[in-house]
Amino acid sequence: MFVWSLLTILPLLVAAAPASTKEEAIWDRLGNLSPYHPAPVPSGMNVELPGDCKVEQIMYLGRHGSRYPLASELVYIQNLTYKLGNASAAVARAKLPKSMQFLKEGYRTTLGHDDLTAPGRLELFKHGVNFRLKYPQFNATSILAGGQDRVIESAQWFANGYYGRTWPNISSTVFSEIAENNVTVSWITPMDTCPKWDYNYGNNATIKWGSIYLPPITKRLNSLLPGVNLTDNDTHGALYACAYDLAAYDVSPWCDVFTTSEIQNFEYELDLLMDGAFGYNLPGDMGPLLGSLYVHTLIDRFSNSSAEPVYLEFGHDTTIDMALTALGLAKDTPPLSATGPVNPNRKFRTSTQVPFAAQMLWEKIACSSTFHGPQIRLVLNDAPFPLSTCAQSKTDKTYGTCSFDAFVAANNFSTSVTWGDSAWNSTCGNPGF
Ligand SMILES: *[C@@H]1O[C@H](CO)[C@@H](O)[C@H](O)[C@H]1NC(C)=O
Ligand SMILES: *[C@@H]1O[C@H](CO)[C@@H](O)[C@H](O)[C@H]1NC(C)=O
Ligand SMILES: *[C@@H]1O[C@H](CO)[C@@H](O)[C@H](O)[C@H]1NC(C)=O
Ligand SMILES: *[C@@H]1O[C@H](CO)[C@@H](O)[C@H](O)[C@H]1NC(C)=O
Ligand SMILES: *[C@@H]1O[C@H](CO)[C@@H](O)[C@H](O)[C@H]1NC(C)=O
Ligand SMILES: *[C@@H]1O[C@H](CO)[C@@H](O)[C@H](O)[C@H]1NC(C)=O
Ligand SMILES: *[C@@H]1O[C@H](CO)[C@@H](O)[C@H](O)[C@H]1NC(C)=O
Ligand SMILES: *[C@@H]1O[C@H](CO)[C@@H](O)[C@H](O)[C@H]1NC(C)=O
Ligand SMILES: *[C@@H]1O[C@H](CO)[C@@H](O)[C@H](O)[C@H]1NC(C)=O
Ligand SMILES: *[C@@H]1O[C@H](CO)[C@@H](O)[C@H](O)[C@H]1NC(C)=O
Ligand SMILES: *[C@@H]1O[C@H](CO)[C@@H](O)[C@H](O)[C@H]1NC(C)=O
Repeated sequence: MFVWSLLTILPLLVAAAPASTKEEAIWDRLGNLSPYHPAPVPSGMNVELPGDCKVEQIMYLGRHGSRYPLASELVYIQNLTYKLGNASAAVARAKLPKSMQFLKEGYRTTLGHDDLTAPGRLELFKHGVNFRLKYPQFNATSILAGGQDRVIESAQWFANGYYGRTWPNISSTVFSEIAENNVTVSWITPMDTCPKWDYNYGNNATIKWGSIYLPPITKRLNSLLPGVNLTDNDTHGALYACAYDLAAYDVSPWCDVFTTSEIQNFEYELDLLMDGAFGYNLPGDMGPLLGSLYVHTLIDRFSNSSAEPVYLEFGHDTTIDMALTALGLAKDTPPLSATGPVNPNRKFRTSTQVPFAAQMLWEKIACSSTFHGPQIRLVLNDAPFPLSTCAQSKTDKTYGTCSFDAFVAANNFSTSVTWGDSAWNSTCGNPGF
């Protein structure tokens, strides 16, 4: 009886055991600030294609790896440390739970801002190695990076992993950059040439949601730290400290300070920001319109027998979210609300869709028996992502495929849009160049 129950319980213990390290336990809850981790494979889906299928063409869009906070976010963390530093006597007197004892030693921050971190370099290097191992039949000959330092550096680390350190000297390899500014049409940063686009569409939602979920946390922390007088911005800083210490050092004392539901509310804030500024919550058809530039390019390339077999391109979480929006994937009905409630089953999930070093990988596939005609599949962060707008058969649902023709038909909005046409100008305002 004893032996029997132990054997029964063992697999459960393994399944329920906390991930091996602290960051793994939380890495799928920090939205687009999560370190890279593979997305869960939806139940009933196969990662491997049938044996008679062959990948013929690939379009890969990589997000830059883990980075320091943006300068605008770093201020929250710094202000928190000043507040705690100036109140060191009150901190010394406070009766703190184990998870907050680290404050007695004084918490300082040396985080930089904006640039790729050491774990970010490793993420991209590994992706380059894994891409080589996964697709030995291809030799990619070009890499395109959005013209921002952390994106360029990410593409370089990928190249080191993929080609080896002599890659700048491989004559067949072209490394190019596309500027990220308001006079360069780019499917990596399409919002920059859409004058009516405004970051505040997302930011305003996070301010509203922050005014709802932050005060109870601030109150709880202040009850543990009498005399310190933390503000909601300081609480926000502590949440950022958790995410960005992880991004820079793989570990943060702050993550254990918060309850699971507090972290989930922070995760929701990050989803609201991305959905609001780069997704479905943009006004009218602005979200799909911006993402259409990417989808249009994908369809053009996969329809063109003279196109390159492999495209390796590097950009942002925003690039991926706008593309998903044009594709009609990860769409919530009703839309995410800035006043909650937090739907735990929402489809728009930055934690699994656009973590640091996210990988949106499109495969064009030919099979000798399982399917007739060319197929397409999206592998997002190492897991097939169901193409719900064009999947038809049970086999489609198992492998995440669609016939390429059905995919093209489902995305006729995207192929109907070209930058600077009347649809673009009426949604975005005339770009004026
Ligand atoms: C940080 O502190 C400065 C000086 O007190 C203040 O002006 C600023 O608004 C604070 N920023 C944040 C994000 O709390
Ligand atoms: C006290 O606060 C000021 C400004 O807010 C900051 O410059 C200073 O470093 C803080 N002192 C400590 C010990 O953190
Ligand atoms: C890829 O390039 C390497 C080195 O130049 C070469 O040895 C290999 O045969 C190439 N593979 C393919 C599939 O072209
Ligand atoms: C590229 O080739 C030049 C000239 O042979 C050499 O000096 C340089 O070290 C090489 N760079 C790399 C990264 O291999
Ligand atoms: C681009 O931005 C600059 C400065 O931010 C501004 O002066 C310029 O008018 C903008 N150009 C266009 C075409 O939007
Ligand atoms: C964001 O909120 C501010 C202040 O309420 C408002 O003036 C502005 O129009 C809003 N911006 C957007 C894009 O919603
Ligand atoms: C606590 O901070 C709030 C907001 O900054 C301020 O209004 C209040 O006066 C402060 N209270 C104390 C006791 O410092
Ligand atoms: C919180 O930070 C925001 C953004 O920097 C700032 O506008 C606001 O004044 C800050 N609030 C407080 C109470 O410091
Ligand atoms: C097909 O791809 C080739 C090579 O990139 C390009 O020169 C050509 O213009 C493309 N054709 C179409 C119809 O897009
Ligand atoms: C896309 O196709 C659907 C169904 O055939 C059609 O109703 C719709 O008007 C088309 N949209 C565009 C933008 O062509
Ligand atoms: C849209 O705006 C661009 C840039 O100002 C202009 O060149 C183009 O002619 C406009 N398109 C239409 C259909 O008016």
